[in-house]
Amino acid sequence: MKKIFSAKILILALGILIIAGSCAPKELGQASGTVTKQLFGKLPDSSVADIYTLINHSGVTLKVTNYGGRITSLLVPDKTGKPGDIVLGFDSLSGYLANNPYFGAIVGRYGNRIAKGKFEIDGNQYTLVQNNGVNALHGGIKGFDKVIWKCEDFKTEKSVGIKLSYLSQDGEEGYPGNLNSVVTYTLTDDNQLIFEYSATSDKSTPINLTQHSYFNLAGQGDIKGHEVMIAASKYTVVDNTLIPTGELRDVKGTPFDFTAVKTIGQDLAATGGTPLGFDHNYVLNTKKIKDLAVRVVEPISGRIMEVYTDQPGVQFYTGNFLDGTLTGKNANVYKQHSGFCFETQHFPDSPNHPDFPTAILKPGETYHTTTIYKFSAR
Ligand code: BGC
Repeated sequence: MKKIFSAKILILALGILIIAGSCAPKELGQASGTVTKQLFGKLPDSSVADIYTLINHSGVTLKVTNYGGRITSLLVPDKTGKPGDIVLGFDSLSGYLANNPYFGAIVGRYGNRIAKGKFEIDGNQYTLVQNNGVNALHGGIKGFDKVIWKCEDFKTEKSVGIKLSYLSQDGEEGYPGNLNSVVTYTLTDDNQLIFEYSATSDKSTPINLTQHSYFNLAGQGDIKGHEVMIAASKYTVVDNTLIPTGELRDVKGTPFDFTAVKTIGQDLAATGGTPLGFDHNYVLNTKKIKDLAVRVVEPISGRIMEVYTDQPGVQFYTGNFLDGTLTGKNANVYKQHSGFCFETQHFPDSPNHPDFPTAILKPGETYHTTTIYKFSAR
């Protein structure tokens, strides 16, 4: 009896050891969240767009399509833990294929405007497609927001992500050089969404890649009650076609001052633009990715968004051109000031302003930049 009993214990112990042994190494190396891929739809030229769903271990779900690298949905918990979708966008590919102002997209080759679509590098004159009045905006008619990116997903111990790549041909939209771009989106378990952009080119070219998601931390309604801090003492003054005049003006004493926290609504009317609102490039005081560039708090949901970047500027855009003609997810009608963007960037029209930080990538160099959006609630 005793022998049978101890044999049983031995077998049990061995069994436990075998199970523990086979689980342990997997558990250690196991990825934190999940990434799944589904068909999103077909483009008119029959190419296929996929949609990736990334879920971390802290209640955040991110959906991205490889059509324009567009973030279509971002569920973030509020202060009670209830998730809400905090980006503007559409449920289906058709919404993105129709006219819309860069919802959720990667913008490139050059985020924001280049005056009259013209610039010169090493004595060579280039003319881009003029798609915004006389100016070139956000990479042209078919910019990086409207192409299919190659996409691979990945997982690490504490994050999930996707790696998007696109080869832009020499001459595309008027830009010089074959430009190879790689953009990774990493969602960490501590609710950081990290964007890393890198690129190489075989000819000198302007480059200014950014992310054009429109946020509304309340999930709907207007954004006027959001409280904002931008670590910038100056902004680039623009003419009436939104091209920088070259002047970097102190924000102090102007409606553009967000160095101390204030609501978006407080000085919105005083911005005086047509259409009304903020659409300005801030010259960041921050120098390193670790420095806080922007903080947004939505007091009712308690959601907080922080922006960290190594870029010299950030375009603060308050959805001024949204006019109620687009209806997105959850039957949300996108009216003026339904969402805001913080597009980290080189200054607009840098190729025509030698005194701005250079935005020219030369052959043999690698463009590399990182921006982090960090989410929390209190
Ligand atoms: C620009 C706006 C433009 C918007 C949508 C922003 O980055 O600064 O002027 O209307 O993108 O195209």
